[in-house]
Amino acid sequence: MKELWFHFPLLRNLKSQGNFAYLDNASTTQKPDDVIAAVKEHYHFHTANIHRGFYPLAQKASTKFEEAREIAADYFGVDKNGFIFTSGCTSSLNQIALGLEHHFTPDSHLVISEAEHHSNILPWQRLAQRTGATLHWIPILEDGQLDFESYQKTLSTYPVKLVALAAVSHVLGNINPITKFTALAKKYNAWTVIDAAQSSLRDRQCFSKYQADAVVFSGHKLFGPSGIGGICATFQFLSQMEPTFLGGGMLGKDSPWLFEGGTPPIEQAVALGRALQFAEALAPDYFRQEEVLIYKFAKFLSSFPEVDLFGWARSNNSLVPHSSLLSFSVKNLHCHDLADLLGDNGVAVRAGLHCAHPLHHKLQSAGTVRVSLAPYNTIEDFEVFARAFERVLRFRKNLGGGIYESGARTNSESLG
Ligand code: ALA
Repeated sequence: MKELWFHFPLLRNLKSQGNFAYLDNASTTQKPDDVIAAVKEHYHFHTANIHRGFYPLAQKASTKFEEAREIAADYFGVDKNGFIFTSGCTSSLNQIALGLEHHFTPDSHLVISEAEHHSNILPWQRLAQRTGATLHWIPILEDGQLDFESYQKTLSTYPVKLVALAAVSHVLGNINPITKFTALAKKYNAWTVIDAAQSSLRDRQCFSKYQADAVVFSGHKLFGPSGIGGICATFQFLSQMEPTFLGGGMLGKDSPWLFEGGTPPIEQAVALGRALQFAEALAPDYFRQEEVLIYKFAKFLSSFPEVDLFGWARSNNSLVPHSSLLSFSVKNLHCHDLADLLGDNGVAVRAGLHCAHPLHHKLQSAGTVRVSLAPYNTIEDFEVFARAFERVLRFRKNLGGGIYESGARTNSESLG
């Protein structure tokens, strides 16, 4: 199988300098040559505002933007008029919450889970505060799965208006059986909003697959530029939403333009189209390789008695299905120090609370280190990580452990 990372200039560059493993893909993915070329091409040949000008260049720019919408709509399995460009998941979820706020009263109920990213918590908390509605939290079980029984009970007890859940936990990597949750919500006439930030690269057609009213995503996690993402939704759902942004280009319009007031991120949308075509063309082998690799990381980390690996407990003798990320901590070593030391050894990982304070509170964890893969990661990346990790543990042992317990490492300290 041809190495995929070769299509990514940053990886070509840093890997050629030696030890380097980019394992922070859940934060953002690297960008392939194709996507960078699409941005450049747009600036060189198609720069003009869209949906306003009558001259050929402006019409070409509008066509390119709408072509990108069609590509994205096809990728997600949604009608192109149900595909709204936003700046990413956070913006999408805020727009939905603000757009639906007028439907909520002190008698209303809505449901999220303890495992959500703050972008799928704070907009709903604000909605609840402003309207007096009640926000219910679905707990997670010991093995990291969402507690379906508790969900069932909440839906059968209260007239729930809306359920907002992530398809894949951005901390634990668990793949939630999301259609089970959306099907039950449908039975109780509750709207469903699914955060596909961590699932949309592997779950193509996720809008049709999840059977939700709305699915949101961020383009920069799909090889695209930052500042672009979207809402995929049914017309029925969108007809209940008020536009959040009022401004140019939306007056008298229907979806999707009604929700895209002002000049949108044009070249980002065009480049997102290219990124999705790149993602779509990836051979399934790359995703299989990613799956094999994450289990390798999990097995490696669990072999250390000082490591706590979250969300990988076995229930009924089987492992909860996992996407390509995991989070862990090392006893008596602050997660920031660990990430810093790994960074000195060529490993890029994220550390902290990952914008998921309620989840870390539930896990009784002061912070975790997250390894997150993309289809371009290889066994060599695992080896770079394994060497670095063992080196950090040895270093810590030589210092008698405990020295970095408070996250107090200074930049001048290194592994030498
Ligand atoms: N939401 C991104 C993450 O999980 C930034 O790291």
